[in-house]
Amino acid sequence: MNPFAPLIGNELNLVEQAMRETLTGSTLEAHVNALCLQMVNAGGKRIRPTMVLLCAKALPTYQAEQDEWRAIKLAAAVELLHTATLIHDDVIDNSCLRRGVRTINDTSGNHAAILAGDYLFTRCFNLLRDVNSLKATGEISNTLATLVAGELKQLEKEGCLDLSPDDYAYTIYCKTGALFEISAAVLAVVREESAELISALKAYGRATGSAFQIADDNLDYAADTETLGKKAGIDLADGRITLPVILALRQSQEQDRSKLEEAIQAGDFAAVKTAIEKTGALAAAHAQALEQVRLAQQALSVLPDSPYKEALYDLAERAVKRCK
Ligand code: IPE
Ligand code: IPE
Ligand code: MG
Ligand code: MG
Repeated sequence: MNPFAPLIGNELNLVEQAMRETLTGSTLEAHVNALCLQMVNAGGKRIRPTMVLLCAKALPTYQAEQDEWRAIKLAAAVELLHTATLIHDDVIDNSCLRRGVRTINDTSGNHAAILAGDYLFTRCFNLLRDVNSLKATGEISNTLATLVAGELKQLEKEGCLDLSPDDYAYTIYCKTGALFEISAAVLAVVREESAELISALKAYGRATGSAFQIADDNLDYAADTETLGKKAGIDLADGRITLPVILALRQSQEQDRSKLEEAIQAGDFAAVKTAIEKTGALAAAHAQALEQVRLAQQALSVLPDSPYKEALYDLAERAVKRCK
């Protein structure tokens, strides 16, 4: 159960309903709808819609009559956008398991998965049309552009052993931070709230998203496939240099460093994991994630006290305390 159900359970159910309705309307598109539903129905943590809804209800100006349905549509749109990027990411990463079920590329091939992802983008923008905010639609389409830039950057840096912590921070902002950023601020953007409030909410989302991606990259080394519901160890197999590896490389002395470089190049998971453990790189990466949580929580000071604000504090912490 979503831990925030007591505060936003009803809205979360309506988000599920909105996503399913969007994917059941047209018989013409029955096949692609079924493919997309395979991923939507498999669940997922729904952290982005949770953030949209909590940030919406934490706004001092929130008015249920006009804002509830808009927040629900926005949350569904953001989750469909996220799902589309996961479907495409699984093609790029050649992954066969996601949310504990087979990926679309695995069951139906890469072509079908790419088209299903494209189709979900159209459904996202279709939901946004109902909310009728050019500003929010513009920002969400820019977020998608940022995501694409991040994935391309990651591709370009595949296997790059001198990737810096700054390169890494930029990549995780693009692939994850940017979507969290707009999730936190989207209703405020629609409502044309003050620039100060919007930028604080964005700072909250951005930092929480970065913390979340650092935790995800740690879990790729620290957790197992069954718990994760997606394959562990895939980052190394795909030549993706993430924070624990960057820190392990930087903390290794000369001889150990060249051994570690060889292990990375050979995709030797056990050896890389041992080096990460020996150098304390997972703990160091976790500390960086906690620093992002602190920044996120600090940004919330712009909001008046409320149970929603408290829940947002908690959400930032949960982004790094997760086991899947
Ligand atoms: C997976 O996102 C991609 C990352 C940003 C790490 P989630 O971990 O939110 O995936 P679901 O939606 O819960 O499956
Ligand atoms: C997140 O990156 C993917 C997107 C933001 C599209 P990952 O490649 O780390 O995500 P997982 O681990 O496959 O869920
Ligand atoms: Mg992936
Ligand atoms: Mg990952």
